[in-house]
Amino acid sequence: MASDLRRLTESDLPRLRQFWKENWGDEFVIAHGVIYYPDTLDGFVAFDDDEWVGEITYYFSENDCEIVSLDSLHEGQGIGTMLVDKAIKEARAKGCQRVFLITTNDNLNALGFYQKRGFELVAFHRGALNESRKIKPSIPLIGNDGIPLRDEIELEMWL
Ligand SMILES: CC(C)(COP(=O)(O)OP(=O)(O)OC[C@H]1O[C@@H](n2cnc3c(N)ncnc32)[C@H](O)[C@@H]1OP(=O)(O)O)[C@@H](O)C(=O)NCCC(=O)NCCS
Repeated sequence: MASDLRRLTESDLPRLRQFWKENWGDEFVIAHGVIYYPDTLDGFVAFDDDEWVGEITYYFSENDCEIVSLDSLHEGQGIGTMLVDKAIKEARAKGCQRVFLITTNDNLNALGFYQKRGFELVAFHRGALNESRKIKPSIPLIGNDGIPLRDEIELEMWL
């Protein structure tokens, strides 16, 4: 089924917080030691009828756009690609020079997904999750596919 996109608005925030809680363990996310809350971010939601099937949030700073969260609830149907393409388009419109994001060492799917869409690995932060866990104890010790969840990996795309 084809999904539509719409910009996140203030009225979506309770739902986004709940969505993060269900998918990422809490109402905030941490990347490179920074805590991100939904109300400080821009983003889009993908939906079928009234049902959320995906979301992307991002943060503009100087010449960069950081993708903070990306989720697709119906994988393999183009939702993730549509959301990332939208964020890139928004970053270009804002005059950003770079789009970047942090993912984790266990997220082999995301590492493949982003690289196939033009992102390159740019940095590896060994043990970064140990620090994040002090702020967000809900981060599991074991991640996807039974892989120990330890490190942050940064990917970027120059626009
Ligand atoms: C990473 C993630 C966002 C990808 O979302 P997705 O909706 O599955 O992405 P897409 O459907 O656009 O693309 C996935 C694959 O499906 C394929 N696909 C897309 N539409 C398709 C269709 N209509 N028919 C068949 N295959 C299709 C794509 O070609 C793609 O394969 P490729 O990567 O080998 O090119 C999703 O797996 C996810 O939410 N993961 C958990 C959260 C996460 O890890 N987020 C990123 C953290 S930084």
